[in-house]
Amino acid sequence: MNSRLLLEQYRHWIYPRPIEDMRKAISSGGYLEIGDPTYYWPLMWSDSRRVDQPLDVLCAGCGSNQAAYYACQNPQWNVVGIDVSDSGLAHQSLLKERHALRNLELIEIDLTQVSQLGKSFDFITCTGVLHHMTDPDAGLKALSSVLRPDGILNIMMYGKHLRMGIYPLQEAFRLMRLEQSSSDVTLIREILQSLPQDHPVHRYMRHSNDLGYDAGIVDTFLNPLDQAYSVKDIFSFTRRAGLEFLNWCEPAEYSLRAQVPEDHPLWSRLDDLSQEEAAHLCDLLLQSRGTHRWMAAHPDYVAKAKIPFDHDALFDYTFRLTPGGKINEGHDSSGSDLFECTRGNLTFKFPGLLHHLTECMSFSRSIRSVLESDASFANDIQSLKAYVSRTLRDLYEMGHVQIFMPDSSQVLS
Ligand SMILES: C[S@@+](CC[C@H](N)C(=O)[O-])C[C@H]1O[C@@H](n2cnc3c(N)ncnc32)[C@H](O)[C@@H]1O
Repeated sequence: MNSRLLLEQYRHWIYPRPIEDMRKAISSGGYLEIGDPTYYWPLMWSDSRRVDQPLDVLCAGCGSNQAAYYACQNPQWNVVGIDVSDSGLAHQSLLKERHALRNLELIEIDLTQVSQLGKSFDFITCTGVLHHMTDPDAGLKALSSVLRPDGILNIMMYGKHLRMGIYPLQEAFRLMRLEQSSSDVTLIREILQSLPQDHPVHRYMRHSNDLGYDAGIVDTFLNPLDQAYSVKDIFSFTRRAGLEFLNWCEPAEYSLRAQVPEDHPLWSRLDDLSQEEAAHLCDLLLQSRGTHRWMAAHPDYVAKAKIPFDHDALFDYTFRLTPGGKINEGHDSSGSDLFECTRGNLTFKFPGLLHHLTECMSFSRSIRSVLESDASFANDIQSLKAYVSRTLRDLYEMGHVQIFMPDSSQVLS
């Protein structure tokens, strides 16, 4: 019953807001797909896959724009967009024709049936879809079955805590028997405006782009099928499908190091937290995520792609600053070197030694070769290595650096 209503919703309230000229939207910076492998390549395939290799891409639940975006942005990729809504697909057919996207195939099919296409994929994106299914587990398992052994799944699902103001309102609107009609959308806008300034929904609304248009209001407040996930839920959901968590699209949002000041009393109680526990704690403390975006892959691939922070092999890796990041050199009050890594509104300070690491930042030299080339470190190489691996782990967890397997520098060239 609810899945039939959901299908009716996406047929009638075409979502997201259709883009008329995809090339213009991309070139003006008006549309960027978070999760586009072009921007996350080293987090996905730091081993051997070259940026210019063609990819087979699946957009599962592609809505009105997403598959056309990938096909337009990456003409060398083969993109398949699937959806159950014929109106979303019809808009992308227009975009396909308008921009002569010969690398785009659009198919009306339920994503749980995707194996019937007889294809497998290097990259699957499924954003804003699984949390609207009656059985999200079956959805993720179906996608996992068509993911190649070194393929990556990019998923976005609702985050529980920032959306906590949404669910009581959904129930209230059901009680009021509001329908998916223009007049009831207008009424919802009026109700939202009348709510007290400290109502939890206002915090959500400040973070969401969806509430400026009618289909976004319907999707948020009148959706018949909608469930949200905590960070802990995300890890178990991923594993139940036989997949393993690879990384967040924006790791800093889930890093205590990034989110909690260094001198905070909380640090005295945080020994021995795994990265997963730390991310869960971040989510519980900050309650700032209305969506979670992460990458998953088959367990064997994730084991291979894991960066060995606790192992000497780390020093054969290379790394670079994440594009958009900057390093500033300075001094603390006692005159010692103090480095500051900034990216967007995130800053991470760390003392000394970084001038040695900056030499590796073009990923042309391994960390080992830089450390071993300075004779002054010879006596204390073990503590230097401990410092370097700690600092690199922090920088990596905050998304400030991208780390590459040995001999993989060609992947970006
Ligand atoms: C919120 S929209 C997200 C669209 C797109 N992924 C994006 O991020 O812009 C959800 C889309 O998933 C589609 N959808 C929902 N359940 C589906 C299913 N079982 N199989 C395929 N598509 C589905 C809907 O028709 C709708 O187009």
